[in-house]
Amino acid sequence: SNTTTNDKKEHLYKILVIGELGTGKTSLIKRYVHNLYSPNYRATIGVDFALKVINWDANTLIRVQLWDIAGQERFYNMTRVYYKDAVGCFIVFDVTRASTFEAVIRWKNDLDSKVSLPDGSRIPCVLLANKCDLAKENLANNNEQMNEFCQDKGFVGWFETSAKDDINVEKASKFLISKILEKE
Ligand code: GTP
Ligand code: MG
Repeated sequence: SNTTTNDKKEHLYKILVIGELGTGKTSLIKRYVHNLYSPNYRATIGVDFALKVINWDANTLIRVQLWDIAGQERFYNMTRVYYKDAVGCFIVFDVTRASTFEAVIRWKNDLDSKVSLPDGSRIPCVLLANKCDLAKENLANNNEQMNEFCQDKGFVGWFETSAKDDINVEKASKFLISKILEKE
């Protein structure tokens, strides 16, 4: 939604964060919004919310509403409700667990089958290869292969991230928001 007050443009963007359980969705959001990290795992139940206000530029204020969606299978039948009116998405996998990468396609298909922009196009979605602090030899090591995968599957881009060491979290978010702005 856009409103103009004193020449300042304001946007409210609903952004989804999805992917298999334990991949670091909640941790990435905590890092991004509060600059905090905890090694303890507490599974998200259903959905959590976080808000970040960004002074994008001198004329633009953006409120990002992050929907932190549980990876557990038992919440899967709720995704249509959670996805409603979203304008951007992160799909997160854990670079140390192949099964979480294999599930990325399932999440992407679920997303694209249940939500689209008003003009019918897919919402911009960024792939996050998280926990890159853990392994030198990780699943996202082959840049070319990752680029190809993203092109094939309709991701606008991908980043290696670490919620723990604060790697690329801000950058990935800036990138996704710029893609959302382009679509307006
Ligand atoms: P669900 O809510 O169950 O879907 O999980 P989630 O995707 O929200 O995962 P969460 O953020 O709770 O993180 C799971 C575990 O991985 C926690 O113990 C985190 O501390 C850990 N973790 C998250 N991000 C990173 C990271 O970048 N590096 C490392 N080493 N550990 C991480
Ligand atoms: Mg969580």
